Amino acid sequence: MTLLQDLESRLAAALAIAMGEPASAAVTAATDLRFGDYQTNAAMVLAKQRKTNPRALAQEIIDHLDLADLATADIAGPGFINFRILPTAYAARVAALIRDERLGVPATGEGKTVVVDFSAPNVAKPMHVGHIRSTIIGDSLARIARFLGFKVIADNHIGDWGTQFGMIIYGWNHFLNEAALTQNPIAELVRIYRKVNAATLADPAVLEDCKAELVKLQSGDANNLAIWQKCIDVSKAGLQKIYDRLDVKFDFWHGESYYNDHLAGIVAEFLETGIARESNGAVCIFSGDSKPQEEDPFKVHKEDGWTDNPAIIRKADGGFLYATTDLATLQFRIDEWHADYIWYVVGVPQQLHFRQLFDAAARWGKTADFQHIAFGSILGDDRKLMKTRSGDNVGLIEVLEEAVERAAQAIAGKNPDLQGDEAARVAEIVGIGAVKFAELSQGRLTDYVFSWDRMLALHGDTAPYLQYSHVRIRSIFRKLDAPFDASAAEIHLTEPAEIHLARLLVRFGEVLPTILEEFRPNLLANYVLELARAFHSYFEACPVLKAEESARSSRLALCELTSRTLKQGLYLLGIDVPERM
Ligand code: ARG
Repeated sequence: MTLLQDLESRLAAALAIAMGEPASAAVTAATDLRFGDYQTNAAMVLAKQRKTNPRALAQEIIDHLDLADLATADIAGPGFINFRILPTAYAARVAALIRDERLGVPATGEGKTVVVDFSAPNVAKPMHVGHIRSTIIGDSLARIARFLGFKVIADNHIGDWGTQFGMIIYGWNHFLNEAALTQNPIAELVRIYRKVNAATLADPAVLEDCKAELVKLQSGDANNLAIWQKCIDVSKAGLQKIYDRLDVKFDFWHGESYYNDHLAGIVAEFLETGIARESNGAVCIFSGDSKPQEEDPFKVHKEDGWTDNPAIIRKADGGFLYATTDLATLQFRIDEWHADYIWYVVGVPQQLHFRQLFDAAARWGKTADFQHIAFGSILGDDRKLMKTRSGDNVGLIEVLEEAVERAAQAIAGKNPDLQGDEAARVAEIVGIGAVKFAELSQGRLTDYVFSWDRMLALHGDTAPYLQYSHVRIRSIFRKLDAPFDASAAEIHLTEPAEIHLARLLVRFGEVLPTILEEFRPNLLANYVLELARAFHSYFEACPVLKAEESARSSRLALCELTSRTLKQGLYLLGIDVPERM
């Protein structure tokens, strides 16, 4: 039970007596520590219902509250009840956390299965910043859910069956450079894709040839299938390298092509059940007419009022679409994986697609908690969509390379002792951590401005600052002659700075579950920053190694718990910590 839950259950007991019937109310962390650690507006809410005086009711609640050994309570303003946790209660909590592998984090997801659909780049097209955001946010959410006890299935739904393959096969036959393909498969596929694209613009006959290649592929032509398979294999190998660097893992790579055999059946079923019908030769899903028009994803408002906004699931030429594969994918995840939740970490531009998908799924009788976890774009210094100098979208690899290179320079300047392999390893951890933290510390829906200097700064809201904080704590332990056993220490908290550090350590288990309420890893990013800052203030105000026993052991134990919590928090953001830097 977290501290907050403990307060809530004691409050519920007091409310039951004061109100003469079962009642409960929420307790929240106080926004201003001058008034206490936690607060509730229970008295104000209940007094309104009962038409009594809120301050008087607050007093009555407090009179019935058993806060022994935990906190004191007082009334503020119009009837808030503020709780101040006793230092001894924080000390007891800290002692318990030291013995707790889970650092006080409740297993709220136990028994539930969540599929996290993230990254999902398209084969033979460059991975752009949208995929960077999806990869980093999705991986963090998957880690957090796993730590909260969910059964997490990370699925990379790559775009491996699009119309781009008509062009790729044409390019493969006309422009392929085998050596370049071995060297850097993703770049070579992108190169031939671009070359063919340009050729189709110059000569419409090429476009016809590409379409013919696509039809051959889709009808099972052995030669084209072999080329397609080769493209998939080299692309996956190239992507895997990126994921290894990022330490991102998938349980499955069920791309669009995985569902090819399911599509015709689904379209037939949709026609049969009337969820879809034919329109100009195509098969389309129309409105189910059960929602107000402004909430109906199959309706759109044009100048002359509301009109249909159908989703095509089979084209007039028989081809299937993105929506069709997504229906098949969703069915598979529910029927085969028994998903309770499906989280799609995909950019804002696909909002309509997902609203239509979820609406159609519900009418189809496929139920799970579906979430489109959208995000905004990454902007360059000029506040326009981030591009490279040549005007292309910036690729993930380029961003990582540059981050690591810049981190290497910064580290060489700060700590010339680090050399060779170790320096390279630290640069990798710091550079990649910086990119991830810059991403995750933003509200995911805001467009954020990408700035190398800001993300790599040692002082500021950055990964290097957090990693450095961790290094600093570990260095305390390197100075000891004998290994330190934190679980044997008695915890005493007297100084305000150490009480504040304890307060934050205890909150870890309260903060984590709230991240999944609105899928906001930035709450965790803020938490670890606050924790690191609290540690530095503590370390300045409270001597640790030079303190007398038993303060020394107590303070060392706080350091130990801080380093574990910081490391775990960063791990959940996908960020590693070096031993030295
Ligand atoms: N490949 C798609 C894209 O790059 C993203 C796929 C997201 N997942 C899904 N189930 N639709 O835009």
